[in-house]
Amino acid sequence: MADANDVFEIMHTTRAMRRLRTDPVPDELIAKILKAGISAANGGNAQKWRFMVIKDPAVKKAVQVCYKRAYDEIIGPRYASSAPPPGVTKERFARQHRAVEYLTEHFHEAPVWIVACLEDSAPTRWTGSSVYPAVQNMLLAARALGLGSTLTTRHLFYEKEAEAALGLPEGVHSYAILPIGYPMGNFGPVGRAALSDVVYAERWGQPYREPA
Ligand SMILES: Cc1cc2nc3c(=O)[nH]c(=O)nc-3n(C[C@H](O)[C@H](O)[C@H](O)COP(=O)(O)O)c2cc1C
Repeated sequence: MADANDVFEIMHTTRAMRRLRTDPVPDELIAKILKAGISAANGGNAQKWRFMVIKDPAVKKAVQVCYKRAYDEIIGPRYASSAPPPGVTKERFARQHRAVEYLTEHFHEAPVWIVACLEDSAPTRWTGSSVYPAVQNMLLAARALGLGSTLTTRHLFYEKEAEAALGLPEGVHSYAILPIGYPMGNFGPVGRAALSDVVYAERWGQPYREPA
């Protein structure tokens, strides 16, 4: 297991873990992940977030149907015609595509889902920024505990159907579904572009130079 006290190691190795075992995850670990979530920053500390812990196979399956439809209609064709993103080799991108396909088929088989929601009237960038820090905290916490997960939002392509399947009341919106389970594979470093490709110094477009 990673050194749970080394936050940098945890951040650099919190990859999307899409191949998950179906073995149950202890409730205490899920509670620990949720506590990490609610420690996150949120606007005005209003804590309008709500989290659903879902194990019910029927609910997960109903949402997976929306998730898969969005893959078949939108995401699959997009993957098939896209170039690898910055910092990612062709081979790694092909592996990612296979893993995305795998998660699509097995989404509902992850033993536990955490669905991050907000009580809000209309989802905006402002509302989202009060829930995604919690989501990232939960991904890092899961990683520190040796559990795999992936931030997923694809169900939002069929938001109405998916949120009805989740049983969300009016005025509540879902922002992410985290399927959680023990990973089949190993954690490893994420693939990202170099700092110099994405960071500017002082003025837009002016290269940032990393200290030696
Ligand atoms: C806003 C957002 C939505 C995402 N939605 C999905 C999703 O629906 N399904 C999925 O398999 N991965 C999803 N991802 C995971 C990204 O594809 C993943 O973070 C990216 O490919 C980098 O992979 P890595 O973290 O393993 O390096 C999402 C990530 C973010 C930040």
